[in-house]
Amino acid sequence: MKPTNLVKQLLLFTLILGCFFGVCSCETNNPKQDKTAFVTLKQAYQDYFPIGVAVSPSNLKDSLERALILAQFSSITAENVMKAGPIHPEIDRYNWEQADQVANFARAHNLKLRGHALIWHQQYPTWFFKDQQGNQISKDTLYARMRSHIHTVMNRYKDVIYAWDVVNEAVSDSVHKTYRESSPFYQIAGKEYLVKAFEFAKEADPEALLYYNDYNAVQPSKVNRIESLLEDLLQAGAPIDGVGIQGHWSIYEPSKEELTSALDLYSSLGLDIQITELDISLYRWEKHQRPLREGENQGFTASLEQKQIAQYESIFEVFRNYKEVITGVTFWNLSDRYSWLDHYPVEGRKNYPLLFDTILQPKKVYHKVVNFNQK
Ligand code: G3I
Repeated sequence: MKPTNLVKQLLLFTLILGCFFGVCSCETNNPKQDKTAFVTLKQAYQDYFPIGVAVSPSNLKDSLERALILAQFSSITAENVMKAGPIHPEIDRYNWEQADQVANFARAHNLKLRGHALIWHQQYPTWFFKDQQGNQISKDTLYARMRSHIHTVMNRYKDVIYAWDVVNEAVSDSVHKTYRESSPFYQIAGKEYLVKAFEFAKEADPEALLYYNDYNAVQPSKVNRIESLLEDLLQAGAPIDGVGIQGHWSIYEPSKEELTSALDLYSSLGLDIQITELDISLYRWEKHQRPLREGENQGFTASLEQKQIAQYESIFEVFRNYKEVITGVTFWNLSDRYSWLDHYPVEGRKNYPLLFDTILQPKKVYHKVVNFNQK
């Protein structure tokens, strides 16, 4: 390791340890002026809800990232490795290694673990919907495969996973349709597949909390379609406990009003709510991938930073006001060192959507989120 890197790593490690033991002062450069003891996310929100983070096995292998996770978060979610594609690559073969690493980390450190995700039209193994001749399978075969997949995965992690995203992103992006009809699940079985998924999950682990999880879940044009889907599930008697609002938001949206009216609506259905995939992008939401435009990679300017601070402050104020219905808030990725938003919707457009920067230091926005009592 180069000496400069070594110094940087040592400083960082000291900071993380300091934060962990609640002793460092981070609001100002002058400790004498600083009356604010360093508070971690999980300490600041202990009377509100668990604070979680989506992790990959590589986060857990990196000693600094690992220390940061343990210092700051009380819950984790596997970002990719429990999805059907990675975990069940062939009909008669499961790939447990990486998912086990995440589960064992949660077990070893007594962290809450959310399961993500059982039934999703993306990151699915291609065999799932085809017979040996390559033809589309029947509805009965689909249900048998869903049941077997759900039972096998849930059983393995029953002791440690307390909540599962049972169905992910089943609502259409079109304002004219409730269901994502292009999903192979829908094409084979219609909307009934959602009810079956929740029934199979309940059979597999009656203790687990079962969620429907979606993006744009507070966007006014999509809220009513998600509401229709949830009402269909409730009417059919599906054993659903809650709704996961992903929270892939930006410095431009949602407004406080949009957020509170969605929270009111979902909780009026009697459902528990979790924010499952929070990040605040510097760019407006776009569904479709496209190439980088000239001049677009503008970096994390002071003006963007201020907007991001304002947005995080605003949404966390709402979360705190809704602590009776929100039972978890999970960030999607650990720090600005890596975010899925560096690749989507524009490959190579660096984003800075989280509370920790590219060298794992708490950003200004971090202090605003944890020191909410000091306004
Ligand atoms: O593992 C392969 C690697 O072997 C290969 O070399 C590399 C080349 O592209 O790809 C790697 O797989 C990538 C995978 O992430 C793991 O890094 C996939 O291409 C990439 O598409 C995949 O992206 C994930 C995305 O879901 C898939 O739709 C993101 O990491 C993950 O953050 C994202 O998470 C989703 C939630 O599950 C559901 N809600 C939206 C959220 C953001 O899209």
